[in-house]
Amino acid sequence: MNLIIGGSSGLGNSLANCFAEDGKTIIVSRRNAKNTKENIVHIRLDINTDNLDCLYDKIKKNELSNIFFTVGLIDWKNDDIFLDTKKFEEIFQTNFLSIKKIISELIKTGKLNSNCLICFCSSASTILPRHRQITYCAAKSALNSFYKSLRAYLYIYGYKYRVANLILGYMNTEMNKNINLPFKKKNPEIIAKQLFKKRKTLEGIHYFPKYWLLIKLIVNFLPEKILFKMIKTLNL
Ligand SMILES: NC(=O)c1ccc[n+]([C@@H]2O[C@H](COP(=O)([O-])OP(=O)(O)OC[C@H]3O[C@@H](n4cnc5c(N)ncnc54)[C@H](OP(=O)(O)O)[C@@H]3O)[C@@H](O)[C@H]2O)c1
Repeated sequence: MNLIIGGSSGLGNSLANCFAEDGKTIIVSRRNAKNTKENIVHIRLDINTDNLDCLYDKIKKNELSNIFFTVGLIDWKNDDIFLDTKKFEEIFQTNFLSIKKIISELIKTGKLNSNCLICFCSSASTILPRHRQITYCAAKSALNSFYKSLRAYLYIYGYKYRVANLILGYMNTEMNKNINLPFKKKNPEIIAKQLFKKRKTLEGIHYFPKYWLLIKLIVNFLPEKILFKMIKTLNL
């Protein structure tokens, strides 16, 4: 059994299609029901506000082979340091807290099979200091930290689950619809196909596209003020 949290569009939807086309059953949680395919079991769920028991009840012990958290929420217009607390909490919850809650519960209740893949979706925005999408970036950074801790915890306590964290650059999805961005948007279907192909061995941090790793290395060595000027000039 496979699970995607947040799969009504974008990367999650493309991944669900990969599983379905290969004849594999996949549970997809989403707030909206859109296209339906054989092998895709939809659960209509708001991960922040709904009771999650209907999700947990669908999964038997030791049953899960792959879990992808493709859920995400961004506010392109208002997410600066003055963002109001309610919106701040929603962005933080969607991109981090609810993910933490779900994975902890699934591990605690023994729903994962011994070689299960747990895959998080973080963002290349965590590489740079941000003057906008601050909450989104903070939540994804919390996810990066949680990813590292979870790997350490699982190793130390003898679990064999694999944990992966995707540092994603811009993709051509609902999230970025009508937004002009300084880098080319990647097609989520291409990333989904790569992930699907590698799912049996995938773990660790992966950059999509790979040049974000190079940018990360450069950013580490740049003096702060030069970095800020660059962000301003390039409108990152
Ligand atoms: N697109 C990019 O350029 C980009 C860049 C870096 C990182 N990422 C990350 O990559 C992942 C996939 O992004 P994407 O572009 O494919 O996103 P997307 O098309 O916007 O899909 C996000 C999914 O999250 C679901 N969702 C949002 N809030 C939810 C909630 N409260 N409860 C349940 N589901 C909820 C949405 O479903 P409904 O709204 O239908 O419920 C949708 O299925 C996300 O984690 C995103 O932050 C994306």
